[in-house]
Amino acid sequence: MKTEVQRQIAKLRLPLFAAPMFLISGPELVIEVCKSGIVGAFPTPNARTTTMLDEWITKIKDALADGSDQSRSCAPYAANLVVHRTNKRFAADFDVVIKHRVPIIITALGSPAKVVEPVQNYGGVVIADVNSVEYARKAADTGVDGLALVCSGAGGHTGALNPFAFVEEVRKFWDGYIVLAGAISSGAGILASIAAGADFAYMGTSFIATNESLAERDYKQMVVDCTAQDLMVTKAFTGANASMMIPSIVNQGLDPNEIAGKVAKLNYTGQDGAEAKPWKGIWAAGQGLGCINKVQPVAQLVDDLVAEYSTASKRIKAIGNL
Ligand SMILES: Cc1cc2nc3c(=O)[nH]c(=O)nc-3n(C[C@H](O)[C@H](O)[C@H](O)COP(=O)(O)O)c2cc1C
Repeated sequence: MKTEVQRQIAKLRLPLFAAPMFLISGPELVIEVCKSGIVGAFPTPNARTTTMLDEWITKIKDALADGSDQSRSCAPYAANLVVHRTNKRFAADFDVVIKHRVPIIITALGSPAKVVEPVQNYGGVVIADVNSVEYARKAADTGVDGLALVCSGAGGHTGALNPFAFVEEVRKFWDGYIVLAGAISSGAGILASIAAGADFAYMGTSFIATNESLAERDYKQMVVDCTAQDLMVTKAFTGANASMMIPSIVNQGLDPNEIAGKVAKLNYTGQDGAEAKPWKGIWAAGQGLGCINKVQPVAQLVDDLVAEYSTASKRIKAIGNL
């Protein structure tokens, strides 16, 4: 039998999650995304303290329960937990998440095992973010409800696999939710994800250039101005492959050619002792940049995606003798 959260995500306006982004996704973004009918998500470290996390979740819950927007039902929200052993706040943040019965938990950078049972016990859904078939298999074995497959072209900590190859390999052993990530910035891209075998698309970069994102103005403008050619994937900042905008690297006084092959000490947040702070001065984005041509309210972005999705669906239906 389906849980209430599973029923809600079956009724999304579009099969889409706005992906969690460090220093970008806060309560305003999540609330507007959920009100627009798709899943909104934020990483718990974006709230500077666990007390603040408690306040953020309360704010999101109140806004989504307030019912003043009767036009459509709100989608459930998701919190993204870094389960890596270096996340010192994990236990405290997880307690808050459990207290609030956050509908969807997206785990990143480690095994979701310790999260699965407590979240499923209250009816929540657990999705593990993975970037290889090996990690997908390991996460699947822990009993998660879904896998977010991070493919090549994704913003932030990126993947190396082509989405068609990744989905096909994972579908051989997995019939739970698949959320597909990597350079998806249009309604046609969302439809293509579903056609490839995913249940949902996972879209990060497009939501940087919204009024409600926490990105500073120049970051939003750089997302509008850049295309996929303006990106480099490097381990120079966090020790893991991350897709960053070259102009932001240059603006920090660094030479992209010089840093290209460097590997930083593993540091997922970049907050401790790094000279140039990834995510703060060095700005992440994915290859979907070319589709993003303005900064706009979330509601408008999602309306546009719905229209593009519908146009793409009609185009596919009109092909051949389907
Ligand atoms: C600026 C930025 C910050 C990100 N921070 C996180 C994060 O804190 N946790 C996480 O699981 N993924 C993070 N991601 C990855 C996204 O959740 C998602 O996988 C990715 O944005 C999808 O690719 P796209 O940007 O091409 O749409 C980040 C991505 C970007 C662009």
